[in-house]
Amino acid sequence: MNKSVKGFSALVFGIPLAATTFANGADIELGAEMAGECSACHGDAGVSTDPKFPNLAGQKPAYISAQLKAFKKGDRKNTLMNAIAAELSDDDIENLAAHFATLKGAVDGNVLAEPTDLDGSLMQLVEDYEKTTTRYHRKDYDGRRQVRYFRGNDLAIDAAAKGGAFPSGAMLIVEIFAAKEDADGELIKDADGKLVQGERKLYSYMEKRDGWGKDVPKIFDNGDWRHSLFTTDFALKEGVNEAQCMACHKPLTDTDYSFTYEWMKDFRSNGKVGYSHDVAKK
Ligand code: HEC
Ligand code: HEC
Repeated sequence: MNKSVKGFSALVFGIPLAATTFANGADIELGAEMAGECSACHGDAGVSTDPKFPNLAGQKPAYISAQLKAFKKGDRKNTLMNAIAAELSDDDIENLAAHFATLKGAVDGNVLAEPTDLDGSLMQLVEDYEKTTTRYHRKDYDGRRQVRYFRGNDLAIDAAAKGGAFPSGAMLIVEIFAAKEDADGELIKDADGKLVQGERKLYSYMEKRDGWGKDVPKIFDNGDWRHSLFTTDFALKEGVNEAQCMACHKPLTDTDYSFTYEWMKDFRSNGKVGYSHDVAKK
């Protein structure tokens, strides 16, 4: 792979040389170095362009460290930050807090300078994907108002059935459909209580290739898996931030970052496309 996560390396090499420590022993330089792993979401300079991600620049260090500790313990809940904070030691937290506190806030027009390469563009979903992959599970979601089919190629499904890690070349695809609604906007259910599949919406895609993970910050390491979203005409969806995909899949080290490992196993053992239904409204 010839791409690298630009924001990350720039930050690592751009740190000043003079040692700067806080009264509590926090090391701003170590914090600055590590902050490259946060930039995919919080921006290179701690100011993000995406409303989902809060700015960190210029925040009080005690507040940042308290939040990171709360995410780490699980007292403050956010799937992405819980997975990320789990990777941080107490020293990392103090160093990061000291670093972000030194940065200028958004008032200076100081926004994400360099986009990362974590935009899903490494992968391409081919139009005849149905020829090389098989559906192994369907899941209905009342809250999302969706029907999703999960597909994999033989490399992926066989690996899960055997119980090991996935080999290079493994592909996992989620076909996302809207669920049909009646005239009042209520979900239509068939005689078995299943949702009724409507319009095709989007594809979620994971692919594993040797070396693909080498430039991914370790804090949301997914081995050699990369993530992407595709529209129904097989174009890369704009604005994908793989760091989000990876942060959520990251804790699944036992199943090589796959949430649906058991579904693949079941499919190989009984030959049936599995079914599950999340009836939660939200
Ligand atoms: C995959 C995206 C992602 C990455 C990478 C990420 N964060 Fe976050 N971070 C978030 C999101 C989303 C929130 C908002 C959480 C919420 O709504 O509670 C957040 C919130 C925070 C907050 C709380 C801010 C506040 O105002 O309360 C802190 C502190 C923080 N992140 C620090 C970090 C640090 C330090 C790193 C790198 C080690 C990092 N984050 C990496 C997504 C990310
Ligand atoms: C909030 C957590 C979360 C985020 C963020 C997330 N996923 Fe997932 N992903 C899941 C869960 C949970 C499943 C299992 C399906 C289910 O139960 O709904 C899953 C399943 C998948 C699968 C099926 C294969 C497998 O075994 O995991 C693919 C492919 C996938 N996600 C791709 C993506 C992509 C691409 C992104 C980013 C655009 C992404 N995911 C972001 C939680 C997440």
